[in-house]
Amino acid sequence: MIQGERRTGAPIRWAMVGGGRGSQIGYVHRSAALRDGTFALVAGAFDVDAARGRELGAALGLDPARCYPDHATMFAAEARRPDGIQAVSIATPNGTHHAITRAALEAGLHVVCEKPLCFTVAEAEELRTLARERKRVVGVAYGYAGHQLVEQARAMIARGDLGEIRIVHLQFAHGFHSAAVEEASPSTRWRVDPRHAGPSYVLGDLGTHPLYISEVMLPGLKIRRLLCTRQSFVRSRAPLEDNAFTLMEYDTGAVGMCWCSAVNAGSMHSQKIRVVGSRASLEWWDERPNQLSYEIQGQPAQVLERGMGYLHPEAVVDDRIAPGHAEGLFEAWSNLYYRFALAMDAADRGAPADAPRYPGIDAGVEGVRWVENCVRSADQGGVWVDYR
Ligand SMILES: NC(=O)c1ccc[n+]([C@@H]2O[C@H](COP(=O)([O-])OP(=O)(O)OC[C@H]3O[C@@H](n4cnc5c(N)ncnc54)[C@H](O)[C@@H]3O)[C@@H](O)[C@H]2O)c1
Repeated sequence: MIQGERRTGAPIRWAMVGGGRGSQIGYVHRSAALRDGTFALVAGAFDVDAARGRELGAALGLDPARCYPDHATMFAAEARRPDGIQAVSIATPNGTHHAITRAALEAGLHVVCEKPLCFTVAEAEELRTLARERKRVVGVAYGYAGHQLVEQARAMIARGDLGEIRIVHLQFAHGFHSAAVEEASPSTRWRVDPRHAGPSYVLGDLGTHPLYISEVMLPGLKIRRLLCTRQSFVRSRAPLEDNAFTLMEYDTGAVGMCWCSAVNAGSMHSQKIRVVGSRASLEWWDERPNQLSYEIQGQPAQVLERGMGYLHPEAVVDDRIAPGHAEGLFEAWSNLYYRFALAMDAADRGAPADAPRYPGIDAGVEGVRWVENCVRSADQGGVWVDYR
């Protein structure tokens, strides 16, 4: 159980790039990183508007001298300080992730980067090489993966509870962008502009989340080929899609599909991962993250509840409150930041790294790879393409 005890040395001196006032995800990073005392926020280049960024830094209690106009100035100035930053989180629009992550690694920093990590597999692999050379941790903010019942699903599938895996059904299909809300929302506007969002909208923004959860639940499963079709129902979003269907064939003979959408009118979130085996199925839904549905063919369905003694040890190790109470997305993110801190601390001590229980650089690369393959298929008219 996590009770705020630090299992690392002194708090990791941490900064943020992006995540400024009014941003969607900035506070979620701060709340998660600061919750267990593993990180201390000491610097930031929080905003594309330097004055607004400084203002937020001051309101967060930072030394004004450590509120910087941009990431390059911050990395250079912090490198000159004996108490300079050791890690940075990057919560800026997608088009900046590659350059800022590269600059951070070159400055010797650990990184937590938002998804998608970058635009191309070539860029992602370059970052992986750099991270390995510099022995730095790169975490990727697939925050839902910190929900503990994801670990329960992984353990049950590994134990063979479902039998042979046949079907993987992924979806992340909300309705919040059913109309052209970007006309009034800067946070949505860049998401539908390829210069800032990259080669996709919902595939990268939404699809990479359940994709990563499927990688956690089914670590041995590799995609052999896929077919993707994507649409821009709000026409002004073209060439970027606000809806996409992807069919996948895995090398074991299992098949999968992923529905990503921002135009699923009326839906709140609908991120679901359903794994169907020859004997039973599991389903996890992010709107009810404390429950895991376990359905054995021919028997009454069961609902496994977070925190209960019948769960796998790795599905309860990060409990923060007794069962019966709801843990939510803030707890899931805190769990990930806790794991990032342990990995960064181990790297700084030169200790052997445990097998990562967090989305690291490999997960970042695989998310970009999936988007790249989906776009290649869709842009050829929705044809099967070998996965590469
Ligand atoms: N992991 C998740 O669940 C999740 C959820 C939402 C957003 N995101 C990701 O987080 C990132 C940010 O998304 P958002 O919705 O918070 O965007 P946003 O537009 O709401 O906020 C972006 C913030 O970054 C700042 N910024 C932009 N360029 C900058 C730069 N060069 N230097 C410093 N600051 C800069 C802006 O001023 C703003 O404060 C995106 O990559 C997005 O995909 C992830």
